[in-house]
Order: sequence, then C-alpha cells, then structure tokens
Amino acid sequence: MTRTLITGGLVITAADEMHADVLIQDGRIAALAVAGSQQWSADRVIDASGKYVIPGGVDGHTHMEMPFGGTYASDTFETGTRAAAWGGTTTIVDFAVQTVGRSLREGLDTWHAKADGQCAIDYGFHMILSDVNDSSLKEMDLLVEEGISSFKLFTAYPGVFFSDDGQILRAMQKGAANGGLIMAHAENGLAIDVLVEQALARGETDPRYHGEVRKSLLEAEATHRVIKLAQVAGAPVYVVHVSAQEAVAELARARDEGLPVFGETCPQYLFLSTDNLAEPDFEGAKYVCSTPLRPREHQAALWRGLRTNDLQVVSTDHCPFCFVGQKDLGRGDFSKIPNGMPGVENRMDLLHQAVVDGHISRRRWIEIACATPARMFGLYPKKGTIAPGADADVVIYDPHAEQTISAETHHMNVDYSAYEGKRVTGQVDTVLSRGEPVIEGRRFVGRAGHGAYLARGLTQCES
Ligand code: URP
Ligand code: ZN
Ligand code: ZN
Repeated sequence: MTRTLITGGLVITAADEMHADVLIQDGRIAALAVAGSQQWSADRVIDASGKYVIPGGVDGHTHMEMPFGGTYASDTFETGTRAAAWGGTTTIVDFAVQTVGRSLREGLDTWHAKADGQCAIDYGFHMILSDVNDSSLKEMDLLVEEGISSFKLFTAYPGVFFSDDGQILRAMQKGAANGGLIMAHAENGLAIDVLVEQALARGETDPRYHGEVRKSLLEAEATHRVIKLAQVAGAPVYVVHVSAQEAVAELARARDEGLPVFGETCPQYLFLSTDNLAEPDFEGAKYVCSTPLRPREHQAALWRGLRTNDLQVVSTDHCPFCFVGQKDLGRGDFSKIPNGMPGVENRMDLLHQAVVDGHISRRRWIEIACATPARMFGLYPKKGTIAPGADADVVIYDPHAEQTISAETHHMNVDYSAYEGKRVTGQVDTVLSRGEPVIEGRRFVGRAGHGAYLARGLTQCES
C-alpha cells in the first residue's frame, strides 16, 4: 500500500477551490482535508505550497501517428503521450480510423497495436467512421459495449473520410439507440473542393489560400446541417474543432432551443489567426489545419462561447507534421499540405494564460480542460477531478513560473512550435498518473507502458 500526501496547495476543481491536503493511496485519491488539519502518514510527501493542485488534463482529441495526405502525424503514442504529460495532460482520447472498405474492428486493432504498451499516460479511443454501411453500423453496437463510445463523422474530405447526409443520419440513429456519441467535423467538403480547384487554377497556391477557400460560412452551414440531422435522429451531437463565429452562433441557437448539442474549440483558434497562415516563405504551412484558422475577430466569439457554455471543451486536435519533409509536400499546392498542428503539450499552459489574461476563471479552466471532457467521453469521476475514489491523476502547477514556448524546449516530435516565442505565465511542476510520478520537479520520470487503455462509458453530458 503506497501513500502519497500533497500538502499546502490550492486544490482547484471545476466545482471548488480550497487550500487542502490530498491523500493518495494505491493510485487513487483517498481523502482531502483542510490544510494542516490531519496528521496523515505517507511514504512520499509533496510540498505544493504556493502552487495549484489540479486534476490531470483530459485531451479528448488527438491524432498520434495518423495517416494523412500520404504521410503520418509525427508523434507516436510514446512521444506524444510523454509530451502530453510534460504539459500536464494525463489522459488522451485518440481517434482510431476505419479505412474505406475495411471493418471498424480492423481499424481499432491497428490503433491498439500502435498504442498498447507505448503510452506514458492513460488513453482511450474514439472511432472515425469512413465507410458507413450496414456492417459498420452493426459494429458500432459492439464497440460501444467495449468502451469505444464515440464516433467521428466528416462532412469534409470527399473521397477520404467524407460521409453523405444519409450516412450521417444513419450513424446518428444508431447512436441514439446505443448511446454512442456522434462527433462531427463540420465543413462543407464538396463546396470547399470546388473552391480549392478554382483557387489553384488562378495560381493561388500559398498556404494562406487554405484559409480562404475553407470559408466560415461553409463551416456554419455544415454545423447547422449536422445539428438538424441530429435533431431528426433524436441524438446528441458534439461538433469538433469549432473555429468560426458563425458556427458558434449555430451551436448557441440550438442550445437555446434546448437541443443536446455540444461544441469543442482548440487553442490554435483562440490564440492564432489567418495572420499566421499568411506568414511568408511558406511558413504559413505550419498553421494549416481544418477547420482553418480564422481572422482574429472570430476569437472574441470563441472566448464568449467558452464563458457562456455554448462551447464546453477545449481539446488540441494534436496532429503534428514536421515543417521539413512533411508540410513541404504542399509547396506549390496548398491543398497537398498535411492538415494538422501540434499542441498536446501546450493546452493546459495556454488555457492558464487565458486565466491570467482574464478570459476565463480558474475553475472554468479546469472545467473545459479536465472535467467536461471527462464527462463528455464517459470517464468522470475516474478522470477530470480530485475527489475521493478518483484516479490520482494530479498536476502540481506553478502559477507564477514564466516560460517561453519553443521547439527548442518542447517534447513533441515535431520540428516547430506553433507558439514559438510566446511568453506564458504558469508551468507544470509535477505530474502523477494514478499516483505514480511521471514528471517530478520538471524531470520526466515516467515510462512507456505505464499508460493504461481506458474502456469508456457513455457520455455523461445531457445538456
Ligand atoms: O487539420 C486537422 N484537424 N487534422 C486532423 C484531422 C481532423 O480533421 O481532425
Ligand atoms: Zn476533423
Ligand atoms: Zn482531429
């Protein structure tokens, strides 16, 4: 029986803030008590005076080793989960991919083969449905029973991940019946492909045109459409990587009508913009992802959505491709730039900076980055909070430390940082995963294979 005691810190959850001591026993939170009020004995004592004691981050949207555009996302489960831990994230939910013509089972087996025994932190899977048919619809039931309780469908990427409205409706009807949550990548991919072709024909090949053709109206239209399809199916829907203010408005309107509609945004949409996509010498390729970065004016709507709960979750959509050798596949044709950006290591810090900047409160920081993603994906209260019985996934966070984000010092397996040179206040000091130290005083002490696979329950978010 191993006991760890964390003393003197400010414990922050989505619900409370209190100066408390935290007792951990056998990998779980055993008890909390007013600081100094109990004389608990422990094998290890961590002094968290002057620091925050927060639940480990839950990143519900990552793509380790994801195939895209003829290459693979550059973080493996080993490198990506280690980097996540450095940034205070102790759970990821990654996307297993169904290949067209193949079963969900084959896709899931492939993802287990990539991840099992490799992860430094706990991990689960969503399933990307690329081929909705009678057989894959039937398989959804089995997957839900096994703890793959969410499925991503795309209105984008015709010929690759795209599903038509009928296929999306059928998957949503299945989700309504078996409790699986449908996640939607909402952009009108057919219309975007026309605009891509026209732009390239005009000689518009630079990365900034990626942002111009993937119009915010086409994100809003697809968001509206998946909401209506979900309404017809009687199913909830979770819209991933929302970037356009017009899409936030669609979500807000649906929620005002009482529909079970949820939205996620990502740090890149909150902190970066089309100015980055327009960086010269092809540097804009570093910021090519879909949905795309938007003009700076959209950020206010995203922050407002996070405050009003029209957006509930901030995930990273971590999908890194190196600038040299991967992003440059699209030199001379922006449509060939692999879509995706790195960020799994930066999310907790960037959102703490949002606290410092006054965009959100400390408790909202924990809610959108830990508690709600855990609830959304059927992991609460095992993950996402500090309460008796929860897994002891705990971060000791120094809110006064100053750091400069840089590829020189980050741990993600990618040759650039999207936030290069950005100064932020706050830094992870120590990370425990199920009571085991993974980061200790800013040293990695974890190991590949410590991370356990998480069979997830059904979504716990109803409204
Ligand atoms: O650009 C992105 N987002 N790449 C990852 C795949 C996806 O659509 O989430
Ligand atoms: Zn997507
Ligand atoms: Zn994604």
